[in-house]
Amino acid sequence: MEHPVIVALDVNNQASLDKLLTKLGKPEDTFIKIGMELFYSTDRETVKQLAEQGYKIFLDLKLHDIPNTVYQAAKAIASLGVTYTTVHALGGSQMIKAAKDGLKHGTPINKKIPKLLAVTELTSISEYSLQFEQNCRLSMEEEVTSLAKMAKKAGADGVICSALEVENLRKNITDNFLYVTPGIRPKDDTQDDQSRIATPAQAKKYGSSAIVVGRPITLASNPQAAYKAIKEEFN
Ligand code: C5P
Repeated sequence: MEHPVIVALDVNNQASLDKLLTKLGKPEDTFIKIGMELFYSTDRETVKQLAEQGYKIFLDLKLHDIPNTVYQAAKAIASLGVTYTTVHALGGSQMIKAAKDGLKHGTPINKKIPKLLAVTELTSISEYSLQFEQNCRLSMEEEVTSLAKMAKKAGADGVICSALEVENLRKNITDNFLYVTPGIRPKDDTQDDQSRIATPAQAKKYGSSAIVVGRPITLASNPQAAYKAIKEEFN
């Protein structure tokens, strides 16, 4: 089975989106991530239309609010035809359960319920930030494991984490669970604002279920070639 390489479309207007999509190839071969930047600059109709065109979509809105608000938001997301969507694990187990219920209740009959992924710690967060800004007494590894276990128990289908954490998480969470990993940088690429990075080959070795790659593809001189090369390296 091919493991997805999801392209983060971090652009902020329809024209840039259209331009980027034509550079990536056929919709049925392309798994895209729509994050806050694009979602808040366009609208839910854009997401719906892309799903209808055949793109697989990861709608990454990282919900984090009280359970009732997250339930209603997840219900609205479920009608769009996306494959994955996200909440922050730090919102707690009741919020994750509410998101899962919202997705179930909002999915049209005969359609697949979107998979719910919980963001553990953002891949841009360093050990320093975890300890001295979040005042967390656990190490990054312990904190990510603890959040992932809680998210699984609350009904999440998987987590977003760094590829560097997958091996350890797979040891702690044995059941069917997705490990979707951003913070991917091909060898010799720039690190940008990411902290806990891995190459596509390392992500494969560590056991990522899917990888999310933004700038190394979207800013490449030939995005389609960069996408293809990363898909080959990861699979
Ligand atoms: O350009 P780059 O490959 O760094 O993009 C990574 C994408 O993954 C961004 O859209 C970012 O919002 C997202 N992401 C992340 N770390 C997380 C969750 C999502 O970098 N923990």
